[in-house]
Amino acid sequence: MKRRTVLVAMAAAPLSAMLPLPAFAQKPIVLGFAQVGAESEWRTANTESIKSSAKEAGIDLKFSDAQQKQENQIKAIRSYIAQKVDVIAFSPVVETGWDTVLVEAKNAKIPVVLTDRAISSKDDTLYVTFIGSDFTEEGRKAGRWLLEKEKGKPGPINIVELQGTVGSAPAIDRKKGFEEIIKGDPRFKIIRSQTGDFTRAKGKEVMEAFLKAEGKNINVLYAHNDDMAIGAIQAIEEAGMKPGQDIVIISVDGVKGAFEAMMAGKLNVSVECSPLLGPQLMSVVKDIKAGKPVPKRIVTQESIFPMEVAAKEFPNRKY
Ligand code: AHR
Repeated sequence: MKRRTVLVAMAAAPLSAMLPLPAFAQKPIVLGFAQVGAESEWRTANTESIKSSAKEAGIDLKFSDAQQKQENQIKAIRSYIAQKVDVIAFSPVVETGWDTVLVEAKNAKIPVVLTDRAISSKDDTLYVTFIGSDFTEEGRKAGRWLLEKEKGKPGPINIVELQGTVGSAPAIDRKKGFEEIIKGDPRFKIIRSQTGDFTRAKGKEVMEAFLKAEGKNINVLYAHNDDMAIGAIQAIEEAGMKPGQDIVIISVDGVKGAFEAMMAGKLNVSVECSPLLGPQLMSVVKDIKAGKPVPKRIVTQESIFPMEVAAKEFPNRKY
């Protein structure tokens, strides 16, 4: 009688209660990512890298596009806190103004990772790590290339500068690094400098204004990204000048559009800034969740591509 009772109880128990929890039943890590926007070819590649590597890593990604507005990024971060995601990552549109929302994340015990752009804050406990390029070094590379290119030539060498988004880390640091190098040579002078907000449309518009004001006085254009340089190339051509010849053009990113411009002889050099940050971000997110230590700063390795190597390098470009 007793034996029969036991058999009945076993048959009634659900199978799952008798087996260990299978691996696929583990809850995926939830990552909230607050992107800057879709302002450039670089940003599109960055978004694609984050989305595809999250999928590959089995991470549940919640993604938002802030359309280049800080208030939208702050709203997105607050909504990730309310949803109790496991980790928050974001690429801060500007450097300052993040402390309040990051303290809220810290109080909710949600680790924060900065990707691509840094913040300026006295409290470095507000984020776990920052993954991205050394923008100051990118500016230095642009400056060193120009010094080499103009070696032995008489001055003055008049430069116009298209800056990135006002208050953003890449705009601040690329300007700083470039000026640091050219300031030692009195031939170089930045005669105009204005923001083009990292977009092609703004790059073109501001270059048109530079050309109107300075005309043939302009020897060099330093654009903080390829998109603004591509917009400016259009403006230069419409003004009846030859980009890459009448005006030497230096930009940053190394996107395919820049390689095409270099192969057409219209852009002289692009300093690489890699947007492919997704795989590193996912591995850091996993390490954080596993309680492993992560370095406070992870610097992306990058190169520089003058127009002479563009055709050879183009087939290897991934963005
Ligand atoms: O923060 C990286 C910069 O942002 C890229 O150089 C630019 O193209 C983008 O919009």
